[in-house]
Amino acid sequence: MAAALAEVGWQVRPILGRAAPPGEVAAAAADVDLVLIATPDAAVADVAAAVEPTATAAVAHLAGALGLDAVAPHPRTAALHPLVALPDAAVGARRLLAGCWFAVAGDRIVRQVVADLGGRSFEVADGDRAAYHAAAVVASNHLVALLGQAERIGAQAGVGLAALLDLVRATVDNVEELGLAAALTGPAARGDEATIERHLGAIAPAEHPAYRALADEARRLAGRAVTVPVNRPVTEGTIGGLCARLHKARSGGHRVGLVPTMGFLHAGHRSLIERARSENDLVVVSIFVNPLQFNPGEDFDDYPRDLDHDLALCAQAGADIVFAPDQHEMYPEPVTTTVRLRTLADVLCGASRPGHFDGVATVVAKLFSIVGECSAYFGEKDFQQLAIVSRMAKDLSLPVRVVGCPTVREPDGLALSSRNAYLSSDERAQARVLRRALEAGAALVEAGEPDGAVVEARMAAVISDAPLARIDYAAAVSPTTLTRSRQPLQGDVRLLVAVRFGKARLIDNLGCRAG
Ligand code: PAF
Repeated sequence: MAAALAEVGWQVRPILGRAAPPGEVAAAAADVDLVLIATPDAAVADVAAAVEPTATAAVAHLAGALGLDAVAPHPRTAALHPLVALPDAAVGARRLLAGCWFAVAGDRIVRQVVADLGGRSFEVADGDRAAYHAAAVVASNHLVALLGQAERIGAQAGVGLAALLDLVRATVDNVEELGLAAALTGPAARGDEATIERHLGAIAPAEHPAYRALADEARRLAGRAVTVPVNRPVTEGTIGGLCARLHKARSGGHRVGLVPTMGFLHAGHRSLIERARSENDLVVVSIFVNPLQFNPGEDFDDYPRDLDHDLALCAQAGADIVFAPDQHEMYPEPVTTTVRLRTLADVLCGASRPGHFDGVATVVAKLFSIVGECSAYFGEKDFQQLAIVSRMAKDLSLPVRVVGCPTVREPDGLALSSRNAYLSSDERAQARVLRRALEAGAALVEAGEPDGAVVEARMAAVISDAPLARIDYAAAVSPTTLTRSRQPLQGDVRLLVAVRFGKARLIDNLGCRAG
């Protein structure tokens, strides 16, 4: 945006980085016409808050999914989202100048920006922004992802991306000229289900979910009934029953993926199941609220449970088997043998939840031993758990590849967790402070702050801005040993926070590199 605006005669002040102190933002905004916020969505509100409410400048953001409230309470607020993919600044300036579409809202100055850039604009009201942005993501990002699949499958037959891209260009031209339904060709449009089955037989199982989902979309566009049933997972309650099913699958050469959960599944679990689906032939989701990892007085009895909802989510995400044993099946009385961790477990969350990780390690060791050779998927949100489980699989020589998967977040940065259900609306609004604290800590580390204690104090200070937050810890540690990093901070650093809001104890973390 800066390059494109300078090109058409705007005076553009130097760009401030995300780590710029609020005073610098306020000073830069004092005598300009427009402050343009181009940060990730979660940081927009903080940057806007650094501009004095009395400043005469219009304050606008470039976020597709956010409304004007993200930059409130300024008298002149606006939103300006270029409907164009901007992989880098040079491509961005060129494409913006080529007359792209912009979604605009709020102060008139953003229409002036669009006119000066030679673009075209349309209004999107706050309530429609998320749907608008989802449409843009499907049209651009998902198209790129789809071309990735076309490239992989094409490579299997020796066909390169260049030939497929010519096909894409001609198809887009057809859509523009004829409309979507008339431009549709291929087996789903013709009702040729036998050819679709031959495709599925020829391509890797990992390619099936995306292929099937889009064949359904093509059938819908062609006005044909969607005939592919959603794969209902089998529910299995006994260890013996699960082992028998897995034995049968393995003798057919199937790769097994395991997603251990305590149920009350959300989009974070869904992303683990989908990852497992994309890398394996058979996906097992375990649902078991493990009493061994709760201390007396913790929320074992109240832990949210909803098996019907969980089964529906497992079906949509493509699980094959849901293993949902009862307590007696997992822990026949008396429980005699458990896993005891010698390191990693008494720091961070382990310090305030003694015995918790021994309980996690015990149930996960049992699941690994029941399921046998597999890949097992865990969220990075529980970073200490991921480190412990990876180490345990290695120490006990269990035949399991432990895979860490990225944290899934709400638009304001709050990490998804079943325990978010405990938050009141005030607590929920303040809970985004966890992510803000981690980002403030990471900015310090990356700017070269050598002292871990200073980084921890900064994160704690950001958390204490939220009046309902009770901090448990804010730590800068080595990602492998989980101990306080050496001074000066070097290499990879993991920042972790745990904060209580009422009944909910929330955790989050972020990786960064010492600058
Ligand atoms: O992360 C969880 O949900 C649990 O700690 C796990 C790994 C399923 C063990 O009970």
